[in-house]
Amino acid sequence: MNDAAARFDTPFTRHAGVRLPIICGAMYPCSNPELVAAASAAGGLGIVQPISLTYVHGHDFRAGLRLIRRLTAEPIGMNALIEQSSRSYRERMARWIDIALEEGVRFFITSLGKPGWVVERVHAAGGVVYHDVTERKWADKGLEGGVDGLIAVNRRAGGHAGGRSAEELYAELGSLGVPLICAGGVGDERDFVAAMRLGYAGVQMGTRFIATPECRASDAYKQAIVRAGEDDVVLSERITGVPVAVIRTPYIDRMGLKAGPIARRLLRGRRTKHWMRTIYALRSLWQLKRASLDERGEKDYWQAGKSVAGIRAIEPVAAIMERFAAALSAETRDVS
Ligand SMILES: Cc1cc2nc3c(=O)[nH]c(=O)nc-3n(C[C@H](O)[C@H](O)[C@H](O)COP(=O)(O)O)c2cc1C
Repeated sequence: MNDAAARFDTPFTRHAGVRLPIICGAMYPCSNPELVAAASAAGGLGIVQPISLTYVHGHDFRAGLRLIRRLTAEPIGMNALIEQSSRSYRERMARWIDIALEEGVRFFITSLGKPGWVVERVHAAGGVVYHDVTERKWADKGLEGGVDGLIAVNRRAGGHAGGRSAEELYAELGSLGVPLICAGGVGDERDFVAAMRLGYAGVQMGTRFIATPECRASDAYKQAIVRAGEDDVVLSERITGVPVAVIRTPYIDRMGLKAGPIARRLLRGRRTKHWMRTIYALRSLWQLKRASLDERGEKDYWQAGKSVAGIRAIEPVAAIMERFAAALSAETRDVS
């Protein structure tokens, strides 16, 4: 069999209608339409990050989805961050979900918040919803809302990392009766096969797909991922107010990793935490956009996970997918 066209059957690949159990996770600000399309065209599932598509890469939301459609006819997904920080944000997210459904998107990944209202809309259109979780408590909330699968975000993940290992999360969530995706720490095909061997129905990768020609992030950012070892990835509260995994650079060292004392108090306060998070969110959207596209790399806020350890080169998305598929095929042959 030609491994480039290998097809794997897992509960996730069936839900998503894809060949490979590999998700190119949503990334603010790194999810550009060409990257999402390349991941889906190569047999995985590319996920649209709506704020990245519109604010960073400058597309009207519907036009951006149609651009991806022109690049590939394969299924794509959409990420809906549904934390209730403001009514206008929630209304905008609801509009984006409706537009995505109208444009044929049938796979959604919710993060934060209660996903019930998203599930209702998506199920009515025959789609599925997977929910990002870092522990059992959030998995239960998601399942109460009717989600079809869970993305288990472990402590090696890029973006907002969890607190548990991939093994611990599988032990905690593996018996809940829905497909489980491993997010975090998958940088090469060995990590991928190891996650599948644990029993996961697929993996979600972010950092690996930044170091590709299809990603529009700066070359300085991509090179930093290739150069970094896992000890270079640290958690900073300075960007969004909660810990985010970034590559340690002189700039990150100068800023420190903790939120300042006033910000921290406001982030904890019952009444102040929502607007404090909004301020952080708006500031971080701007800072991350600037840093990801800045070729000089002076204000280098480079988000990345511990998966940097397995990333040694900038490679086309299709080459990564092929290599991973070949390794999984070999593993399946060994087992059977
Ligand atoms: C730069 C970057 C931005 C991210 N932004 C988001 C996001 O907007 N929404 C989301 O649900 N996950 C986000 N993530 C998490 C990824 O979708 C994925 O779960 C994670 O990258 C997996 O870990 P890995 O980077 O080790 O592969 C982001 C990750 C990175 C590296």
